[in-house]
Amino acid sequence: HPRRTPLMAGNWKMNLDHLQAIAFVQKLAWSLKDARHDFSTVEVAVFPPFTDLRSVQTLISADKLPITFGAQDVSAHQSGAYTGEISAAFLAQLECQYVIIGHSERRTLHNETDEVVAAKVTAALGHNLVPVICVGETAADLAEHGPSAVPVAQLRAALTGVTNAADFVVAYEPVWAIGSGQAATPEQAEQVASALRAVVNEMLGQDVADKTRILYGGSVKASNIAGFMREPNVDGALIGGASLDIAEFSSIARYQK
Ligand code: G3P
Repeated sequence: HPRRTPLMAGNWKMNLDHLQAIAFVQKLAWSLKDARHDFSTVEVAVFPPFTDLRSVQTLISADKLPITFGAQDVSAHQSGAYTGEISAAFLAQLECQYVIIGHSERRTLHNETDEVVAAKVTAALGHNLVPVICVGETAADLAEHGPSAVPVAQLRAALTGVTNAADFVVAYEPVWAIGSGQAATPEQAEQVASALRAVVNEMLGQDVADKTRILYGGSVKASNIAGFMREPNVDGALIGGASLDIAEFSSIARYQK
């Protein structure tokens, strides 16, 4: 397959205010630079809260830091009477490259359905943001339907309005592995990642399937990243807790095969 640049994406969730974000991104950049991190080999991205994005954008562009960034959510709507929502146009204007869509915390705590996720994906693509489409099964889903059924169905639904010109990332995050300290095994991640790549192939063709990055997420740490990265269909990670620790996150980015 054509080379897919691995992506290590830090999802900060509701952590780090805008002042903490500035200090954090600066230190992260220093830490990666000290370690002579090769950004053409592994892309490093951060996903701060909305209120941090302007500060992070300013810092990254002023210092020309080789770190990419995105938001953790986006509205499915373009503009108008949607109190509290943030549009894709606003994010694009802040030079966000990515946006996380359909994280399990949004699906569970904010009742985001597959239809809402699909609408958000379309909204993001309409403003040239790269959606990071999150899918994953709960422990109950796993027991009832096996490993791939729910993530595959979620991805199919999310890609409903997507054409093969679109650029997107898929993140497989088993809900039972998020924040639990109990990561999936590399074999489990590979099994689902390869089923997800097959969905992309079937819906959008081989070229898109070959270039689309599929991440694993759920209790990723410096000590387990290499195992995931050895799998042929895992192209990086979406990292929660460990992305808030600079030493840990930068050592994840510098994983050794
Ligand atoms: O989006 C990443 C996240 O849900 C995984 O969280 O803390 O298990 O790495 P964590």
